[in-house]
Amino acid sequence: MDKFIIEGPAPLQGSIPISGSKNAALPLMAAAILGDSPSSISLVPKLKDIYTFNNVIRVTGTAVDFNEDENRLTIDPSNLGFPEAPYDLVRKMRASFYMLGALMGRTGDAKVSLPGGCAWGPRPVDLHLKGMEAMGAEITLEKGYVFGSFPGDSVPGGEYTLEPSSVGATVNLILAAVRRADKFVIHNAAKEPDVVLLCSMLTKMGANIEGAGTGTITIKKADALKGVEFSNDPDRIETGTFMIAAAMHPDSEITLTGCKPEDLGSFPKTLSKTGASVQINGSEIKVKAPDTIKPVSVTTKIYPGFPTDLQAQWATLMTQADGESTVTETIYFDRFSYVPELKRLGASISLEKNRATINGGKKLSGTSVMSTDLRASVSLVLAAMVANGQSEVLRIYHLDRGYEDLEQKLSGLGASVTRADD
Ligand code: EPZ
Repeated sequence: MDKFIIEGPAPLQGSIPISGSKNAALPLMAAAILGDSPSSISLVPKLKDIYTFNNVIRVTGTAVDFNEDENRLTIDPSNLGFPEAPYDLVRKMRASFYMLGALMGRTGDAKVSLPGGCAWGPRPVDLHLKGMEAMGAEITLEKGYVFGSFPGDSVPGGEYTLEPSSVGATVNLILAAVRRADKFVIHNAAKEPDVVLLCSMLTKMGANIEGAGTGTITIKKADALKGVEFSNDPDRIETGTFMIAAAMHPDSEITLTGCKPEDLGSFPKTLSKTGASVQINGSEIKVKAPDTIKPVSVTTKIYPGFPTDLQAQWATLMTQADGESTVTETIYFDRFSYVPELKRLGASISLEKNRATINGGKKLSGTSVMSTDLRASVSLVLAAMVANGQSEVLRIYHLDRGYEDLEQKLSGLGASVTRADD
């Protein structure tokens, strides 16, 4: 099991590229299964979750080729003949559950393992299943597997309201409906850029989808979908993570290239409130740290509000702010597993239900800390980079799931981050 050894404090200076988005690529890969011919997707990051999903898709008989040098995936579903997704792979990566919608959409039948939970909660899929039933699918659960099937070639469809709004459920219902439902309307649909990108790929394949990016998405049945060439989006969460990293040390100034600023919603404005200078110039974002970080409280919301996937990173920034702030999590009920680890580094944070109160301005000092999930672990790296002395961040396999070439990118900016065997 690997760890990072980090020497701090170190300012970050220079320019780094943003990789393709994990959370946008996974739905695109599932969509490729719906085509009657091969699709190829560019800007796919070399991340553990992508390799896991490649293997999940291969189980069905679909051919998947990952040209790592070009970050390009080719998916050929011509020989898809086994519409199943097994537990030993689905449990590794929750988004494998998208196979339910993709396989039901393509073959009308699917047997997909229920996903496991994760570090911070049960992560239910009830909305996915109820939405499929509202569309006209038959859903049964047996021995930890979901058996989904559409009677006949198509179903009349209908409508379903997601409560709460769910990215995954929106993705899964779209995948199931595009080739099967005469007309299906999703209310309170997720508006994340990942959903908009999925809908644009499916539309290019021949799907009939209206309302992507709004709260109401209407799908009408397309008899066949063709494979396409399509480009993934840059990762908006990686972008936000590095923007926060650049604000943490007063002498930092970095430029991020290959960004898609319009996907960041309200985040750049929120970061500017700390005193950081944020300059957006086309696909480049330049961030210069403030001399003193102003405390700014945030509450996570669905898109385009403050993203829950940047919540841990923001709390870490606020440990260096000149005053008190709060971070309130409204998407998940317990996404604060990083807080005890930050306190080991010397941060002053108290937790009350879904709200962290951060008493900023405390110098951090290096020590060993433990990653618990993808976004928590990167916030520990950010903290260790400004802490005095040496830190070890353990179990960084969580990081390898979601941040491509992280130590290379941070070292390229002047940080002292080395990977070692734990
Ligand atoms: C996606 O997860 C992302 N994962 C998550 O990013 C992200 O945190 C989340 O959306 C919210 O933005 C991927 O895109 C692969 P949800 P997802 O369904 O789809 C509840 C990361 O770090 N809910 O939008 O699983 C759920 O419990 C990951 O990259 C139900 O109640 O999230 C949560 O409270 C972590 N029933 C809320 O909805 C359901 O059937 C939002 O979850 C489904 C969800």
